[in-house]
Amino acid sequence: MIFDKNILPEKFNIMHFPSLPSTNTYLKELVGNGAPSYTVVIADSQSAGRGRMNRSFMSRDGGLYMSILLRPSSDIDGIKACDGVHITALAAVAVSEAIEALTGKKTGIKWVNDIYLDEKKVCGILAEAAIDKSGGFEYVVLGIGINLVGNFDGTELEGIATALYPALDEKALADLKKRLADEILRSFFTRYERELTSGEFFDDYKNGLFIIGKGVDVIQGDTVKSATVIDLNPDFTLLVRYNDGSSASLNSGEVRLKVK
Ligand code: BTN
Repeated sequence: MIFDKNILPEKFNIMHFPSLPSTNTYLKELVGNGAPSYTVVIADSQSAGRGRMNRSFMSRDGGLYMSILLRPSSDIDGIKACDGVHITALAAVAVSEAIEALTGKKTGIKWVNDIYLDEKKVCGILAEAAIDKSGGFEYVVLGIGINLVGNFDGTELEGIATALYPALDEKALADLKKRLADEILRSFFTRYERELTSGEFFDDYKNGLFIIGKGVDVIQGDTVKSATVIDLNPDFTLLVRYNDGSSASLNSGEVRLKVK
């Protein structure tokens, strides 16, 4: 166990495994057994890491793969209805902040759930929610995968994904993993409890987006349309102008973007 419970607030119950198929899938199994909010599952690798829209997430040794169980309606007093996209966006801000605080590296957010370093993806975020009868969240499993070391040459992600460092020795990697998990949990929970309802993190999220003004391909099913990103709307939909002159506000549940 490399995660020292003493350095984290007591409320976290952290489980660490050398390998799992998927920390999100494992945590969802624990939810069925009544696991409390703030249960955290970490793995050093995943054999079946999952991304948005049923895509896989390459999860070799050398990454931080972490899932956090949230029960927003009991975690946050007087929570107003919020969308899963708020939790994803808040996590993106917290992860970017944590990476910068620990490594000095400035990352950018690609709407809605990816974090980029030097124009390549370094982190993906996947929030999976179950909705209760009243339309609130029964739970949210928030999964965060960060490439810490290595490169993707010779893989299908060559030129697309990157890691924070080309290489680190075993001790430095273990240390980085522990400190980054700690910093992300602190940064995320401070904002989660204070800002999820108020939406205060909106400006930080928008300022972190590197795609405003950029050309993108908007991919929906088998359809690909070229567009320019104009702005982020207050509801976290993305305002784009297609090359034919028409505009649209994109919903993150329906489309993904490829930056040109
Ligand atoms: C994406 O890129 O679309 C999201 C990737 C999310 C990956 C993380 S790694 C920890 C957690 N477990 C998973 O299977 N997926 C998430």
